[in-house]
Amino acid sequence: METRVIPVSREHLQKKDVAEAAQLLREGELVAFPTETVYGLGGDALRPDAARRIYEAKGRPSDNPLIVHIADTDALPVLARNIPKSAYALAKRFWPGPMTIILHKKKIVPDATTGGLPTVAIRMPSDPVAAMLIRESGVYIAAPSANASGRPSPTRANHVYEDLKGRIPMILDGGDVPIGLESTIVDLTGRIPMVLRPGYITIEQLREVLPKVAYDPAILKRVRDDSIVAKAPGMRYRHYAPKGELTIYEGDLAAVTERVRKEAEAKIAQGYRVAVLASEETKGCYEGLTVRSVGDREEEATVAAHLFETLREFDDMGAEYIFGECFPSAGVGAAVMNRLMKAAGYRIVQV
Ligand code: TXA
Ligand code: MG
Repeated sequence: METRVIPVSREHLQKKDVAEAAQLLREGELVAFPTETVYGLGGDALRPDAARRIYEAKGRPSDNPLIVHIADTDALPVLARNIPKSAYALAKRFWPGPMTIILHKKKIVPDATTGGLPTVAIRMPSDPVAAMLIRESGVYIAAPSANASGRPSPTRANHVYEDLKGRIPMILDGGDVPIGLESTIVDLTGRIPMVLRPGYITIEQLREVLPKVAYDPAILKRVRDDSIVAKAPGMRYRHYAPKGELTIYEGDLAAVTERVRKEAEAKIAQGYRVAVLASEETKGCYEGLTVRSVGDREEEATVAAHLFETLREFDDMGAEYIFGECFPSAGVGAAVMNRLMKAAGYRIVQV
């Protein structure tokens, strides 16, 4: 199958730009499209055949449920039942935007979309291309991140193309996404609301609407502990992992950079291909080494925006060992460190 890449402009978007993509979705076909978080691989959420195509194209285990993307809160009672008031309160405050809520599903949502779960994940994206695609197609769009299963999520159309070329008919290319990490997932089906995946919307922001919201304990773990199982199936898989072995060093920044440099040099001396994951503030500390700055420590959002792209770069350069710095975990930093620790398989060294 030929994969067509269609440029679309966020600023000057017209209905006709998404017309063909919308038609493909109505036919049960797949289209990759930008959202404000990461690129999604979309299919009609109410068609089991479209859901199966998504799993096949990504090489994703079919028990890992998909997020259903909507363009209007009116869709909530169509897809979900027993909706708590808190769902509407969250929607009012954070939609359209990078937040997904889990609710009890209605029968209309097929098991193929929810991985057999009785619950459904729903999100209203703010990206104008995503919103127009949902509206113009007239379908609710099931969309996981548009990466091949196990690779970092795509933050630009080219990442999608690398992973899925020949497997899907179309990619809408809206340029780089603004956020770069997947949405915050809040489960509203339990006794207390729970964050199953940290994202751009922080737990502090959620508390303003839901004072009792708590993290799924699996999110907080700092060491590999297989007895703590994440509630979101997708958070259990090895994910975001670069091909090389990534180790993160935590502690006083000067000591960390010193240690990272030593470890990197030792592996280079053994003949390995080595890369360093650093920040704008510290990249100058690694003269002579292959270094990538992921962003500015003072502005966590810049780190979020470039993390996945940087992990992909390490794969492209064939890095066998990657030594990285820890980042502050305030605000969106919680999501950054969650992804980074997973990418490192919880190899964190205290300096
Ligand atoms: O920002 C995002 O959320 C992006 C864009 C495309 O919207 N999508 C995304 O989808 O990250 P995906 O499939 O890569 O991640 C969905 C996560 C997985 O961890 C999955 O297990 C979890 O949501 N999930 C989906 N439905 C669920 C449910 N009913 N219960 C618990 N977890 C669920
Ligand atoms: Mg994903």
